[in-house]
Order: sequence, then C-alpha cells, then structure tokens
Amino acid sequence: MKVVRVHETGGPDKMVYEDSPAPSRNPDRAIVKIHAIGLNFIDVYFRMGLYKSPLPFIPGMEAAGVVDSVGKNVTSVKCGDRVAYAGSIGAYAEYASIDPTQLVPLPAGIDMKTAAAVMLQGITAHYLTHSTYPLRKGETVLLHAAAGGVGLLLIQLAKKIGVTVIGTVSTEEKSSIAKSAGADHIILYTQADFEQEVQKITAGKGVDAVYDSVGQETFDKSLNCLRPRGMMVLFGQSSGPVPPLNPSVLNAKGSLYITRPGISHYTATREELLWRAGDIFSWISDGSLKARVDRVYSLKEAAEAHRALETRQTAGKVLLQP
Ligand SMILES: NC(=O)c1ccc[n+]([C@@H]2O[C@H](COP(=O)([O-])OP(=O)(O)OC[C@H]3O[C@@H](n4cnc5c(N)ncnc54)[C@H](OP(=O)(O)O)[C@@H]3O)[C@@H](O)[C@H]2O)c1
Repeated sequence: MKVVRVHETGGPDKMVYEDSPAPSRNPDRAIVKIHAIGLNFIDVYFRMGLYKSPLPFIPGMEAAGVVDSVGKNVTSVKCGDRVAYAGSIGAYAEYASIDPTQLVPLPAGIDMKTAAAVMLQGITAHYLTHSTYPLRKGETVLLHAAAGGVGLLLIQLAKKIGVTVIGTVSTEEKSSIAKSAGADHIILYTQADFEQEVQKITAGKGVDAVYDSVGQETFDKSLNCLRPRGMMVLFGQSSGPVPPLNPSVLNAKGSLYITRPGISHYTATREELLWRAGDIFSWISDGSLKARVDRVYSLKEAAEAHRALETRQTAGKVLLQP
C-alpha cells in the first residue's frame, strides 16, 4: 500500500510518500480501508518532533473508511461496515489496523469526507463546550483561531447553547467565515489588541471562559480577558508552547482556573466516545451543525497540505485522500 512516512522529524518535506506492506492481521484488531483522512494540527506537532513518536512513523490521527477485515476476536464490527475513528496514529495510508473499540459506525447520511472532517475536531469542540467548561446560556467566551477546524465547529456548538462568542482570526476573509458560522464579535488579532477589544465588548467585565489553542502568542493576554474565577482552557499551541506558569498569577488575575485538556481523556470510555460522536453526527444530519471542508489533497500531497495549515492559509477542515 501507499503511505506517507516520517523518517526524521522536521519540516513538511520530511514526509515521504512510499510503498509499505499492508498492516499485518491481529486477532484483536480491525483493518480499515481508508477513504478520507482528516488533517489536524497535532499531525504537525508529531512531524516537527514536538510530540514524540518512535521513528519512522506514519502520521495522521483521524480517518473514515470501510472495515476490510477483522481479527477472530473482533465482534463489534464486521467487513463492509462504514466507520470513522480519531486518536490512533497511522492514518496517512491506504489501510490502518485499529482497535475496534475506537471505531464509530457511520450513520447512513454521513459521507466519508464529512466523517473525516468532524470526528476529531467535532468531538474536541463537543468536550470543550459540554465537559471541560460546560457552557451555559447567556455566558460569553473568547475563542482564538475562530475560523480554524475546531474553531468553526466550536462557534456553532456554543451558539446552540445560547452563548455569546467573541472570536479572533488573522484575516478579513476568515472574519466573514467565522461570522457565517455564528460568531457574534470578531477581532483581527493580527491588527488590533484583542485584550482591549474584549474589555470593550464586555464593558470591562471579562469573559467567562477562554478557549485558547494558539498558545504562546495569546496565552498571557487571554488570562487578562477573563472575569474573576473565569476558566482558561488551553487546548493547543499552534504558535508554540506556553512557558511554565507561576500559579500565583492565577490569584493575582482574579482567582482564575486553568486546564490543559486532551481528547483522549474525554473519550476515555466507549460510552463517552459514542455519546460525543453520536451528538456530532446527529447535528450534522439534522443540518444544525455544518462542517466546512476548506480543501482536499491527495495523500501524496501531504507536505503541501501541512504547509497550508501551518502558514494559516486554511479555514475549516483539510482532508487527504489516499
Ligand atoms: N487538546 C485537544 O484535544 C485538541 C484536539 C484538536 C485540536 N487541538 C488544537 O486545536 C488547535 C486547532 O487545531 P486545528 O487542527 O483545528 O487547526 P486550525 O485551527 O484549523 O489551524 C490553526 C490556526 O491557528 C491559528 N494560528 C495562530 N497563530 C498561528 C501560528 N503562529 N502558526 C499557525 N497557526 C496559527 C491560525 O488561525 P488564524 O490565521 O486565524 O490566526 C490557524 O489557521 C491546535 O492548536 C490543535 O493542537 C487540540
């Protein structure tokens, strides 16, 4: 089969499109023929070496496809089932061997590209808004990279609950895209001081929660945007990792809370995974949640896809197709 493999960490060119033996059979696993692969910022962290995987490795944490074969102990899925998964590395390939407890069956109306577009980022937006900081009607949040893959989905989930969303984006074009998804206020954080803008919008009260996936460039000012006892949800670092924090800063800035969540802890049981994926797929099916696929590349163009994501050219989801 064809795969994209990283032999040494570094820039996008370190990804090599090459031949590989198909995954070997395992009695406890299912082999999925991949139809669509979701690109996520975590793929960049692994490729760069910020997150560690033994070398060489096949990147990619998310895909949708059809079960091609199952091991003899697997009873939860069968050949021909349409499935999607998030959280198992090795998706930049034609086939992947997956623990069947990670496979979510796809409802009839959900096509492969949509499934690969919402599994990881949709579940992330779900746990961030429903569990990490369970949003309540009438609250106000600040969301960085609002036109990103997670961002556009998170806006829509927050609006469903009745929350005011202040989003930040880098360009006018991304501003219109985030507004179309429902954002109430958009700040161009590359041009304006987002801390001052948030204080203006909230009349000095601050927001109830900040969802910050940009990290290094936004973290300090984001803390200043919170109301007393507000919640800082740091869930990524697209601009670089945040340096160590002195906990007394949280006291000085208003008895703040901070958390650094990850998807695996919010899909720790099969029930939780199916609950979150089920909600996302049912909202896609009833039209109340829309996935924006920004661009689709072939698997062999993975380096180009990474470049587009890393250089902030994309708004919404990027997919690869084997
Ligand atoms: N913890 C979890 O469970 C979890 C799960 C999924 C994703 N994440 C995190 O969520 C974030 C978004 O992921 P995504 O896959 O949906 O990506 P994305 O938001 O589509 O892309 C990243 C965006 O970050 C913004 N950005 C700001 N500064 C940047 C910089 N210096 N370099 C690159 N981008 C910069 C850009 O938006 P602007 O151009 O508008 O600034 C860019 O489009 C990532 O940090 C990712 O690690 C975390």
